Amino acid sequence: MSKKAYIATFGCQMNEHDSEQMAGILSNMAYETTEDLAGADLVLVNTCCIRQKAEEKAYSFLGRLRRFKKKNPDLMVIVAGCLAQQEGSRLFKKSPGLNLVIGPQGIHRLPELLREAEKNVRKITCTELTTSQELPGHVRSLNGKRTVTAYVSIMTGCNNFCSYCIVPYVRGREFSRRSGEILKEIRGLVEQGVREITLLGQNVNSYGLHGDGGCGFADLVRKIGEVDGLDRLRFTTSHPKDLSDDLIECFGSIKPLCEHIHLPMQSGSDRILKRMNRKYTRDDYLEKVAKLKGVCPHISITTDLIAGFPGETEADFEDTLDIMRQVRFAGAFAFKYSDRPPAKAVTFNDKLPEPVKQERLSRLLALQKEITYNRNKSMVGKRAEVLVEGYSKSSPREWMGRARTNEVVNFSGDGDLPGKVVTVAVEKACLHSLKGSLAGE
Ligand code: 5AD
Ligand code: SF4
Repeated sequence: MSKKAYIATFGCQMNEHDSEQMAGILSNMAYETTEDLAGADLVLVNTCCIRQKAEEKAYSFLGRLRRFKKKNPDLMVIVAGCLAQQEGSRLFKKSPGLNLVIGPQGIHRLPELLREAEKNVRKITCTELTTSQELPGHVRSLNGKRTVTAYVSIMTGCNNFCSYCIVPYVRGREFSRRSGEILKEIRGLVEQGVREITLLGQNVNSYGLHGDGGCGFADLVRKIGEVDGLDRLRFTTSHPKDLSDDLIECFGSIKPLCEHIHLPMQSGSDRILKRMNRKYTRDDYLEKVAKLKGVCPHISITTDLIAGFPGETEADFEDTLDIMRQVRFAGAFAFKYSDRPPAKAVTFNDKLPEPVKQERLSRLLALQKEITYNRNKSMVGKRAEVLVEGYSKSSPREWMGRARTNEVVNFSGDGDLPGKVVTVAVEKACLHSLKGSLAGE
């Protein structure tokens, strides 16, 4: 009888992708994934530590596991991901039931490490960071499910050292995968029925600069755009300083490339951007936006924002609100600044009090809510091209898919629709989605 593995994933798409890969490795080792924590023989917690809150969530889940470990002392507990990298063997003290701690670069060593841990000889930590990685072939487990969309990792790590950010310390230096391998993986996914690919990297715009890439990012996008049977292509995340004119042009010429870009702005104040080590100004950012809109007038732009960075004045903060109004972002992920040692901003001595950060975050969120809702309302009465992913979360009688501009669209309509691109008449705007009905296949 096969053993059962429960996988809990916190954090970004990169972690979701890594979890899929680890699920694939575990299934090759005769572990079947389960949704039932109480019945699991192995629990793998893929953690995130990008912000304090993310770290707290991981610890709270590990706390919950204690009860299960008490009931079943043979339960194998693995902590993977960025918190594993950051804390290493310290995690064994903080969370005594653990068997194995494995950083993001150690994923491909999971089989040997797990076998060793199963022998129960000692607690194992695998957190070395290397600069030249042999990126393993991607095994993934789709669990026999038909999936319409898939993530493909094109590079790992980050060389940017934004002053608030822990990623370069836990994910290591940038390293690009061979373009030929990426294309092979994508062709294979399309053969299995995948219709939309999202390319993943901490900074996809610097693809090819370090590692095995063999071409630049715009060239990679053009090559992938020619893969037969691929309806849609997306990528994330882009650093504004590296968004080239060549890549911007792709939005006007590559049919599968969807009209959406996630372009983290972080702040609208030049003074703060400088202290964040972002290497662009607000005018540089606005110029990129103007170019994107020039090539692709309906492009939707989403962003990340930090409220209450050390030393941020009310005037700096208002610069952020101002640029939000100018760009009219389709969506924004906004966060309160939190210290992430060893990132540089930890040493800045002009930290803001918690209530100020909280109040600014609330104002950012309120403004964005208004902008997103108004944008969604302006789509009512129009038609959207939707790639159907499956049933809607809120109602099993409705379908769910995304518009090319990335809005979630729930709609009614008959037929076997998953995997198909359909036209939906948009009838209602909600805060986080659109509602409508099928208008044509
Ligand atoms: N505090 C708050 N937000 C942060 N982010 C990264 N580090 C921090 C931090 N220390 C945000 C940035 C980034 C997103 C993934 O998380 O906005 O783009
Ligand atoms: Fe962090 Fe900056 Fe790298 Fe993004 S570009 S992962 S914010 S250091």
